[in-house]
Amino acid sequence: MIQVDKLDVVYANGTRALAPTSVTFRAGQFTVLLGASGAGKSTLLRALNGLVAPTHGEVRIDGIGALSGRKAIRSHRRRTGMVFQQHQLIGRLTVLANVLIGRLGYHGSLRTLLPFSVAEKQLALDAIERVGLLDYALRRADQLSGGQQQRVGIARALVQEPNLILADEPVASLDPASADRVLGLLHKICKDDGIAAIVSLHQLEFAKRYADRIVALAAGHVVFDGPPARLGNQEIARIYGTTPIGVRQDTPQPSTLKTGTYA
Ligand SMILES: Nc1ncnc2c1ncn2[C@@H]1O[C@H](COP(=O)(O)OP(=O)(O)OP(=O)(O)O)[C@@H](O)[C@H]1O
Ligand SMILES: [Mg+2]
Repeated sequence: MIQVDKLDVVYANGTRALAPTSVTFRAGQFTVLLGASGAGKSTLLRALNGLVAPTHGEVRIDGIGALSGRKAIRSHRRRTGMVFQQHQLIGRLTVLANVLIGRLGYHGSLRTLLPFSVAEKQLALDAIERVGLLDYALRRADQLSGGQQQRVGIARALVQEPNLILADEPVASLDPASADRVLGLLHKICKDDGIAAIVSLHQLEFAKRYADRIVALAAGHVVFDGPPARLGNQEIARIYGTTPIGVRQDTPQPSTLKTGTYA
């Protein structure tokens, strides 16, 4: 559904964030983006939504074509939900009002001055119910916990009736248990609705638990692309430069293999 073709992003200050990168994302697939800080994950996610323009190469979307020009970007963004790490809600507005913001892409600029339709409010309430926050629909968003706010962010993405959700470190600011709940919820909703997701994470455990496919970047290059089962210690070392402390050694090391073979 999305073809990234020799995408090269050099920022105005001369930093090359992505070296020519080609990768295809398929409909309905839950992809986790891994990579050390500065590897280019956020840049790739922004490029997939037209927030960063390619220096060379292009991003092509099925049914739309090259992601360039206002019309193409607008129609792609309408069906693309974005979930960020934090600061994504308007604190003084209710949960319901925040979720309805997800519908704005469906309205012309004049139409945004008019109230939302009953059908849209129902859609928003349904989304709020799916993320388990119906009792909070009329609360101010800044009265919710971090995990609840992330669930509101997911509901706001859902009312876009998206075929793709892009999430940049959606659980980075949550404790491990809340992070697991929020990611589990996002994963279940995407699977139930056939929504493709591309989610950047720093937690390998979660990547292995939820990803259909892992794409890893190092210094703007794709250095791994495959199912979680193929992500062994060698691959992890290539991604992060070293095996991070606390990573489970669940693939046999060469020395273990040797002992096993000759013992
Ligand atoms: N707006 C910008 N202007 C200039 N350089 C930028 C800009 N945004 C990012 N960079 C640089 O581009 C490179 C890739 O950054 P990016 O934010 O994509 O990395 P990341 O993988 O998301 O890192 P993190 O895990 O820390 O979020 C880094 O060297 C970064 O300093
Ligand atoms: Mg980032």
